[in-house]
Amino acid sequence: MEIVQLLVSDIGKVYQKSEMTEPVRQAYEAYVETHLKWLSEWCVNADHLKNNIHHLYLLVDDKIIGFRYFYFPSKGNYCELLAVFIDPNYRKRGFASKVIEQSIDFSNKKGISKFVVRISIDNKPYKEGLLSFYDKLCGKRCPPNQFTIYSSKGKREYGL
Ligand SMILES: CC(C)(COP(=O)(O)OP(=O)(O)OC[C@H]1O[C@@H](n2cnc3c(N)ncnc32)[C@H](O)[C@@H]1OP(=O)(O)O)[C@@H](O)C(=O)NCCC(=O)NCCS
Repeated sequence: MEIVQLLVSDIGKVYQKSEMTEPVRQAYEAYVETHLKWLSEWCVNADHLKNNIHHLYLLVDDKIIGFRYFYFPSKGNYCELLAVFIDPNYRKRGFASKVIEQSIDFSNKKGISKFVVRISIDNKPYKEGLLSFYDKLCGKRCPPNQFTIYSSKGKREYGL
């Protein structure tokens, strides 16, 4: 297993969507492409955006079986942990934990220990697991880190 970290501006140069398994490609198109389009319309500073959105790809047997991305907003000295997705055939093996741990370690090296997670549950049953997953992981990594999770179930804070 290998975790590859890329800036948003490098996507496409290094990895192609054809290297993703089908469920990952679908999730990537549904979440990442839509979200990046929204961010680029909303964010006035395109250079800041280009240099502060990091993507992590999980490679297993030369296939991309999962991804996540995270963002350092220009104000606030914190990290937004954005979408995470693991191919259903590869779940419950610690892969999502590894990519998120990597984002946390990378942020800590930059002196950032505050994290925000926003989950839209939207009545989709598969997303219920996402909240339990983050609850566990945030509990493990605080202190010294601080996490705020926003979801339709309200606001949860760890380490604050
Ligand atoms: C939630 C998700 C990321 C978990 O990935 P994973 O690789 O299976 O997670 P891990 O194996 O690292 O699990 C870590 C911990 O979370 C728990 N966990 C994982 N999935 C869970 C679930 N569905 N329900 C409850 N707990 C769960 C595990 O039991 C594990 O606990 P442990 O440390 O006590 O053993 C994965 O199920 C997924 O991609 N779901 C779809 C998410 C989605 O819709 N993303 C797009 C929008 S953001």
